[in-house]
Amino acid sequence: MLRTHTCGELRKEDCGKRVTLVGWVAKRRNLGAICFMDLRDRYGITQITFNEDKSELVKDVRNEYVIQVSGIVSLKDTPNPKLATGEVEVIVDSYKLINIAKTTPMLIQDETDALEDLRLKYRYLDIRRSPIKDRLILRDKVTTIVRDFLHELDFIEVETPILSKSTPEGARDYLVPSRLYNGRFYALPQSPQIYKQLLMIAGMDRYFQIARCFRDEDLRADRQPEFTQIDVEMSFGDEEDIFAITEGMMKAIFNKVKGVDLKPFERLSYDEAMSTYGSDKPDLRFGLKINDLSKIFVNTEFSIFKNCLENEGLIKAIKVDEGAPKFSRKDLDKLTDHVKLYGAKALAYLKYQNSEFSGSIAKYLNDDEKMALISVLALKDNDLILIVADEKKVAEISLGALRSKLGHDLGLIDKTQYHFVWITDFPMFEYSKSEERYVACHHPFTAPKDEDVDKLLNDKGHCYSRAYDLVLNGYELLSGSVRIHDQDMQAKVFEALGLSKEEAKEKFGFFLEAFEYGAPPHLGVGIGLERLVMLLSDTENIKDVVAFPKTASAMDLMAKAPSCVDQNQLDDLGIKVKAE
Ligand code: AMO
Repeated sequence: MLRTHTCGELRKEDCGKRVTLVGWVAKRRNLGAICFMDLRDRYGITQITFNEDKSELVKDVRNEYVIQVSGIVSLKDTPNPKLATGEVEVIVDSYKLINIAKTTPMLIQDETDALEDLRLKYRYLDIRRSPIKDRLILRDKVTTIVRDFLHELDFIEVETPILSKSTPEGARDYLVPSRLYNGRFYALPQSPQIYKQLLMIAGMDRYFQIARCFRDEDLRADRQPEFTQIDVEMSFGDEEDIFAITEGMMKAIFNKVKGVDLKPFERLSYDEAMSTYGSDKPDLRFGLKINDLSKIFVNTEFSIFKNCLENEGLIKAIKVDEGAPKFSRKDLDKLTDHVKLYGAKALAYLKYQNSEFSGSIAKYLNDDEKMALISVLALKDNDLILIVADEKKVAEISLGALRSKLGHDLGLIDKTQYHFVWITDFPMFEYSKSEERYVACHHPFTAPKDEDVDKLLNDKGHCYSRAYDLVLNGYELLSGSVRIHDQDMQAKVFEALGLSKEEAKEKFGFFLEAFEYGAPPHLGVGIGLERLVMLLSDTENIKDVVAFPKTASAMDLMAKAPSCVDQNQLDDLGIKVKAE
């Protein structure tokens, strides 16, 4: 070994020992005769001190040089409380330069103002900074806890193919052209969905995988084109089993990583989540629930509300406690712009002050409506009511977005809380306006609710499934479902999705054939590992928890991928690139 200790290890109990350290020079202070340096490695930073007779040796040493030093551990006169090793220093008696370094294009320090593009181009330097390094270490800790936890419950880890066939998650596939079969393509898996179900049919009973997934979709702060799922599948269980296992896993992770004991997870049906929070991934760390005021306005003379209700729309509202004096006309215009982004035509408001209503629609309120508002919303002086009258989905989603904005803007979110909620009873199908047909809300292997089987073909809009999501602080952490294990049911669902027998066979033939050989009842989940680590490490940027992430436009700035390839590689693959 080139060292006796790491740079994070020495404490005052080690004083007097002769040690050897290796690492990167993080900081130098040359005080003429004496030279102090911070030596850094993955484990921490130790101060090393070159006294008079040695300081000449290191006069040309620069930051990020790799050096090896030996010396005696000594107590520092003035300890540095910011460092775990801050009580000691190593008085160097022997020194070796191992490697030199160019001046780095960014400073290697925790706080940086380096632009993200630069950080991604020189990611190996960025990872030397604690905020990234520590998150990678945390990520490893999480996967270790997961592996231990699931192994304890008899789950076994099985790897499934990366060169595969299109899977049903619904994003665009990344394709890999075949050299041996020109014109044919492998698809990179969007998730191991089909394989994990095949493993259940194969009798593996309990499987998991820390699985790479690839999706060519629009990227956001919490999405990468390649990401990792903690993918779990089990046979002969039901929702309660997978909920208990997942909760147990989260409790183990949060306990070991954060030292917190999680409360039992809440549950909300999809319909409840949408009507109360305007989102299927509600952040429950704050209130601002959405209220339905439609009943109050059944006899309204206000034409916009009247038309809305006549067209089966809803009048929904958020009450902001003591919001009336806080929001100026200009602020309310900004909130209106915000709900318009989500399709709402307008945002009406009412202020309740000194037992009087004022605001954009106050003049239309009759006494009964005023009384009802006061009692239904339990109004108190200075409360503000923000109202959207629109078709159900628009009213819910736009107020959901407004709720999130208000929660942040008004500082209502307790950042120390971890609020988990299971969202259950998702619709089986959702209508895709662009495709003009119903598509699977989760994926086509999800079981419908027993009581809704009859609606599969003729009442798709009211058919619910046995799919569930786990939401943490407004993030969808995982989704999963009870799968169909019956061939006839699967055929019916494909029919409902407008997939002919031939198409289904072409797409998933090998999978469907497996169901002819005895498929056990099974179910599972796919947990977004990056999202979990993001939430555990207080970042909203998924790139912070990925070693070598892609940009929002799916570029690897360091490796410069995607890149052009040689003509002969294309010839091998039988591929001709279309001219621009
Ligand atoms: P789903 O498509 O909902 O379900 O994905 C499961 C979880 O994976 C995470 N996730 C992502 N994380 C980062 N970047 C992305 N582009 C991305 N896309 C998804 C989310 C999400 O909740 N096969 C099913 C699971 C199952 O039914 O078992 C599936 O993949 O946290």
